[in-house]
Amino acid sequence: MGSTFSLGNGDALKNPGQKRILNRQMFAIIAPRYAWITRILSFGRDSYWKKALINAIPPCHQPFCLDLACGTGDISRMLLSRFPNACVLGIDICPEMIHLAKQCKSAYRPYYLLSDMQFLPVPDNSFDIITGGYALRNSPDLNALLKVIFQKLKPGGVALFLDFNRPLEETKALKQAKLLRFWTRLWGWIFHQNPEVYGYIAESLALFPNCEDLRQRFESAGFSQYVRWEYLGGFTALIKVTKP
Ligand SMILES: C[S@@+](CC[C@H](N)C(=O)[O-])C[C@H]1O[C@@H](n2cnc3c(N)ncnc32)[C@H](O)[C@@H]1O
Repeated sequence: MGSTFSLGNGDALKNPGQKRILNRQMFAIIAPRYAWITRILSFGRDSYWKKALINAIPPCHQPFCLDLACGTGDISRMLLSRFPNACVLGIDICPEMIHLAKQCKSAYRPYYLLSDMQFLPVPDNSFDIITGGYALRNSPDLNALLKVIFQKLKPGGVALFLDFNRPLEETKALKQAKLLRFWTRLWGWIFHQNPEVYGYIAESLALFPNCEDLRQRFESAGFSQYVRWEYLGGFTALIKVTKP
């Protein structure tokens, strides 16, 4: 059956309140097929990138970890597999995603909480490690989120983010955007008879800062030791930063 989800004329993604509502609606539709579609859209590379994120975390003894926009909990569980004595909290705005994360049959059992990543009900300087798989691009207000992440990390703590990448070079960015638009809309049509469901990825990426702008925003928020790795010819990137 076709879904009635619509991005409208795209302006909703520029408005934090409307973007929040759209995200919640869209991920509720996607949730039951999330694991499959992520594999398909990433050509099976998603779990490899997530492993790279986990492996890029420096050694840490009994860390407190926060996984932003945890979805069905892949990264939250991988944090526990890397740090068995850790305390891991996964948060997400979408109840359907949190429900699936809690249902997952795994030896690794993180805590989960329904929350907006920008309004975290936790004290400042709480976490040694903060992660986000496809979290930054989904944020209703990126600069505000970076500020919150900085506040919630302990001094010396690290934050790592995996997401689609917007290259600096405009011709490359346009070519990638076209390909991504085609690929995501195709699968939106196949799975939901609605190209806008996954077409959202390309639309939100078009409004996302390019890699250089993003680096500057991290630095303006106070982070240091910015490191970045690109995958799949620059379609996705992993970023690691530290709170001094
Ligand atoms: C593409 S999924 C990523 C899930 C998971 N991190 C992963 O890598 O598989 C993006 C997630 O962001 C969540 N999300 C979107 N906006 C959010 C917000 N403002 N606060 C918290 N979570 C949000 C969605 O509900 C969705 O589960």
